Amino acid sequence: MKRLTNKRILLGITGSVAAYKGADLVRRLRDAGAEVQVVMTRGGAEFITPLTLQALSGRPVFLHHLDTETEAAMGHISLARRADLVLIAPASADFLARLAQGRADDLLATLCLASAGPLAVAPAMNRQMWSQPATQDNLQRLRQRGVHVFGPGSGGQACGETGPGRMLEPQEIVALSAALFDTGLLQGRRVLIDAGPTHEDIDAVRYLSNRSSGKMGFALAEAAVEAGAAVTLVSGPVALPTPERVTRIDVRAAEQMHAAVLDRAQEQDIFIAAAAVSDYRAAQPLPGKAKKQARLTLELVRNPDILRDVTALPRHPFTVGFAAETENVEDYARAKLRDKALDMIVANEVGRGDRGFESDDNELLVLWEGGRKRLPLGPKGRLARELITLIAERYGAEEDTAQDTGPAAGQ
Ligand code: C5P
Repeated sequence: MKRLTNKRILLGITGSVAAYKGADLVRRLRDAGAEVQVVMTRGGAEFITPLTLQALSGRPVFLHHLDTETEAAMGHISLARRADLVLIAPASADFLARLAQGRADDLLATLCLASAGPLAVAPAMNRQMWSQPATQDNLQRLRQRGVHVFGPGSGGQACGETGPGRMLEPQEIVALSAALFDTGLLQGRRVLIDAGPTHEDIDAVRYLSNRSSGKMGFALAEAAVEAGAAVTLVSGPVALPTPERVTRIDVRAAEQMHAAVLDRAQEQDIFIAAAAVSDYRAAQPLPGKAKKQARLTLELVRNPDILRDVTALPRHPFTVGFAAETENVEDYARAKLRDKALDMIVANEVGRGDRGFESDDNELLVLWEGGRKRLPLGPKGRLARELITLIAERYGAEEDTAQDTGPAAGQ
C-alpha cells in the first residue's frame, strides 16, 4: 500500500456518528507514516472524546474555539500552514455547508480557510441529508474549488435506513489520502538531485562549509519519488534520513560531489542542483591537526562548478539550479539562468530567520525563459511537491517542443 511517510495531516472531526471511526482513522494514518494533528468541532466532540484522539495521535487535540491556549501552543495560521493535507473525516452536512460558504466561525473552519495546501472531505450523513439539493450544491461548489471528495459509501446507516451517505472505511480514506501525493507526473523518469553542503578539509579535523541543512534537496527527492521517478540523491554531509525508495550516494567535498554527479548526469532525464557547493577549497590541506599559530594564511582555490559542467555535456538532462541570494533576488537569478544555461532556476532569499537555510519553511521564486512562478511561504515538503509539479510541466513542455522541431517533424 502507498505510504504517507512524513506527511503532516490535519484531521478535522465534525459532528456525525461516524466520528467514532476517527479513532481507527488516526491509528491507521499514523501506521502509514503520517503525523496527525486532530482538530474537532463542537459537534465532533459530542460523539468521541478528545482524550481518546489525543492518546491515539500522541498530540493535544484542538477544539472548536480560538482560545489563548491553542494560539499559544501554535497559532491557527501556522497550524494550517504546517499541514500537507487537511482531511475532514467525517465531514457533516453542516460542516460542508460552512466550508462552501467560506465561514470562519470555529477553529476548524478557520483552518480550512487559512490553509494553502490540499483539502479533502469524507462526507458522512443520513441518506436524505446527502441527497438534498442543498448538500449536493455545496459539494459541487467544493469540487469546483479543487476540494477532494472521498466517498461517501452506501449501505446501512446508524439511523436504521439504507442508502448513500456512509463515511468510507478508515482504510479507504487512508488509501485515497496517500494517492493524492502519488501524482505519477514523473513516471519512469530518472532524476538526479544533489543536496546539502560540502566539507572542504583545511587539515585532518577542520573544514570549510556553509549553513545548508539539505532539507530542501531531500524533500525534492521524496516528492520526485512520489511523482513516480527513479531518484538518485548525491548528498553532502547532513543529518537527515534517506527518503524511502531513493538511491543515496554520500560525498563530503565538492570534487567528490562533482565526480558523483558527472558520472551519472548523462543517463538522467532531470538534474536538480539543490546543493550549496562550497565555492572554494584549501589549495593544500594541512597534514594532521595544524598547531595554533599567531596568524594563519590559507590559500583557497575555486571548486569546479557542477551545474555548469552538467549543462556543458553534449547530451545533458533538463537542468534546474538554485540561487540563494540576500538581495536583488530575481535579477541575479535571471542572470544565473542564462549564464549557466539552465532550463529553470529556483531563487530564494536567504539570511532571514524564518526561511531558507536551516529553516523548515521557505518561499521560492521559480524562473525560466519567458516565465515565472512564486511559491509562497510554506513547509519545504509542500514546496518540494509544488516545485516537482512545475518541473514536470516545464520538462514536458520542452520535450513536446523538441519533438515538434526534431528531424521527424513535418513528415
Ligand atoms: O553560482 P551559484 O553558486 O550562486 O549557483 C548556485 C547553483 O549552482 C546551485 O544550484 C548550486 O547547486 C550550483 N553550484 C554547483 N557547483 C558549484 C557552485 C554552485 O553546482 N561549485
